[in-house]
Amino acid sequence: MAKAITTGIDTTGVSVKLINLAVSHRSDVMTDVLNAKAVILGCATLNNGMLPRMAGFLMYMRGLKPTNKIGAAFGSFGWSGEAVKLMNTAMEDMKFDILEPGLRVKYVPNHFDLQECVEMGKRIGQAVIAQTAE
Ligand SMILES: Cc1cc2nc3c(=O)[nH]c(=O)nc-3n(C[C@H](O)[C@H](O)[C@H](O)COP(=O)(O)O)c2cc1C
Repeated sequence: MAKAITTGIDTTGVSVKLINLAVSHRSDVMTDVLNAKAVILGCATLNNGMLPRMAGFLMYMRGLKPTNKIGAAFGSFGWSGEAVKLMNTAMEDMKFDILEPGLRVKYVPNHFDLQECVEMGKRIGQAVIAQTAE
């Protein structure tokens, strides 16, 4: 899903960096977040919540109070799917401009789901361009 969203952003000409929290130090990720106009968070639902790595990162990010960001969330789930709502709530708390409710996909994304991800990426790229032009 992250790669498909990246593909959509690429089509708008907006530069995008795909970051895996499993292999990136939170301080390095924060540097990218602070430099970014938009932050798109992705996480599966685990035990009615976010994966601990995303929950921990958001706790860290909240403390550093990033400002003036566009935000969006996506994630796969099996039956309840709370992670996207929780990521949105965390971004709302940081006063991010949440453009859309977020993309939730049951288990493994199919071709249609991935096309939705590409379209979401395009919309976010266009929102970044519009904000930059203001
Ligand atoms: C231990 C465990 C707990 C899970 N808990 C939930 C849950 O509470 N709600 C839910 O919607 N999906 C739950 N899931 C399903 C995952 O969200 C789903 O497997 C994941 O989105 C699909 O990614 P994967 O292909 O990496 O497993 C759980 C999965 C595992 C393995």
